[in-house]
Amino acid sequence: MKTTNSRSSRFGKNPFVHQLKLTGREKLKIALMSVTVFPVRLLLVSFLMLLAWPFAFTASLCRSEFVIEPQSWWRRFIDLSLRVIMRAMWFCGGFHWIKVKGERAAPSEAPILTVAPHSAYFDAIPVTMTMCSIVTKLESRSIPVWGTLISYIRPVFVFRSDQDSRRKTVEEIKRRAQSGGKWPQIMIFPEGTCTNRSGLILFKAGAFIPGLPVQPVILRYPNKLDTVTWTWQGPGAFKILWLTLCQPHNSMEIEYLPIYTPSEEEKKNPALFANNVRKLMAKALELPLTDLSFDDREISLSQGPLRIHDYSSLLEFNQLICRLGLRAGTTGKALEEQARRARKLQGDTLGLDDFAQFLNLPVTDTLEQVHSFFDQHGAGQIDIRHYVTALSVVHRPLKPMETLKLAFKMYESEETGEILEEDLAVVFEIMLGVKEVDLSGMFLVLEGPDTGRISYAELQNFIQKFRNFALECLDFKDHPRKFCVARETRCNGNNQEKNKDN
Ligand SMILES: *[C@@H]1O[C@H](CO)[C@@H](O)[C@H](O)[C@H]1NC(C)=O
Repeated sequence: MKTTNSRSSRFGKNPFVHQLKLTGREKLKIALMSVTVFPVRLLLVSFLMLLAWPFAFTASLCRSEFVIEPQSWWRRFIDLSLRVIMRAMWFCGGFHWIKVKGERAAPSEAPILTVAPHSAYFDAIPVTMTMCSIVTKLESRSIPVWGTLISYIRPVFVFRSDQDSRRKTVEEIKRRAQSGGKWPQIMIFPEGTCTNRSGLILFKAGAFIPGLPVQPVILRYPNKLDTVTWTWQGPGAFKILWLTLCQPHNSMEIEYLPIYTPSEEEKKNPALFANNVRKLMAKALELPLTDLSFDDREISLSQGPLRIHDYSSLLEFNQLICRLGLRAGTTGKALEEQARRARKLQGDTLGLDDFAQFLNLPVTDTLEQVHSFFDQHGAGQIDIRHYVTALSVVHRPLKPMETLKLAFKMYESEETGEILEEDLAVVFEIMLGVKEVDLSGMFLVLEGPDTGRISYAELQNFIQKFRNFALECLDFKDHPRKFCVARETRCNGNNQEKNKDN
């Protein structure tokens, strides 16, 4: 698979990991704090959170989902108490002072606040300071204690899996945003997930679809040791809590940027609106733009022996097929069916028109881009098996063995169930996102005579032996550590077996 151009470097890094390395001194400090300050803080924080609960619970009684009741004196009292308790809780957690720059706009001026980068559960601090509503998944309502506090701020709930609920969420945001300041402002983390703050990933359109003015808010954690980042790979929630409570002081900065009013064009095109706000925020943060989204995280998080080495081309492919609507309909079964059809073609190559027919789609620019992805020699012809393999990889990036199995179904010989070395090399190129895979090293160490073929069972056995199969056993272009157990044509070592065969 080739990348269409040099833009691929946009994906080069993975913001969904947080590697926390502690020096000896830091470890010692943490050990000391763990037996002194930590238990006291933990106790106080837990106490304050429990103290907040009855207030939030009382307020949620006799409250409707759809109307805002008038601010009676007791509701005001509860609101104030909760703000004080929450602030005290963060204080006990080591967030002694929080620097706030700029000024929050009134709800009637900017009904939506877009907050980024989202990287920690401490991002709840600006929410508890303002008591703005948030958009959150439905599951968070059932977290004990915290769930009641979340419900207090009248969040817009999302059901992540349900397509229709996404539309309903946007409808609800719109309804509230257009209430002219009656409903609380909504704070939205448009990235939709936590990253390690190394860049701003793509914004979801939800906050921008109403086409109303938004106020961008940026968050910073200017601490020497980053104990707060909570992303897909790295310390878990409890470790973060522990390490953070062990820091003498935790710094945080909240900056309210000027209100951003969309142009007519941006109102019509939420994606454009979102991207312009993202650019503006990245500039204020002095961070790069990372063109990844929540849905891409799995591709960049693949692990294990067949870990994707360079995911830039797969991500680009993924974006194209999403645009074509091909991604949504992909299931294990649909892949099997495509593999069956691909096998029938027996390696016959497809031009653009045939490719369109294969997918039952009209010829478009995007389709042409997908086609050219697999057009290795620029001859306008592709091997459809490459496409099916790539589709399987992006559909289930965390299950590479499934993809291998599928590939065998397309390539294996009917009699022996074996796949040719050169075919397997291409499959690996697609799966790992690398070029010029050379399997001679791997075939050399396989048991039995070297036939240049391998069955699925043999390969599976072999892969299971190596935690880092792709790096240890394969050779490819730009391999980080050049591998040198190859057949005699590559290395200068003698290979007796091979000579005898000749
Ligand atoms: C954060 O993500 C970047 C890629 O965007 C990566 O290079 C960096 O190592 C990550 N930081 C940590 C601390 O893991």
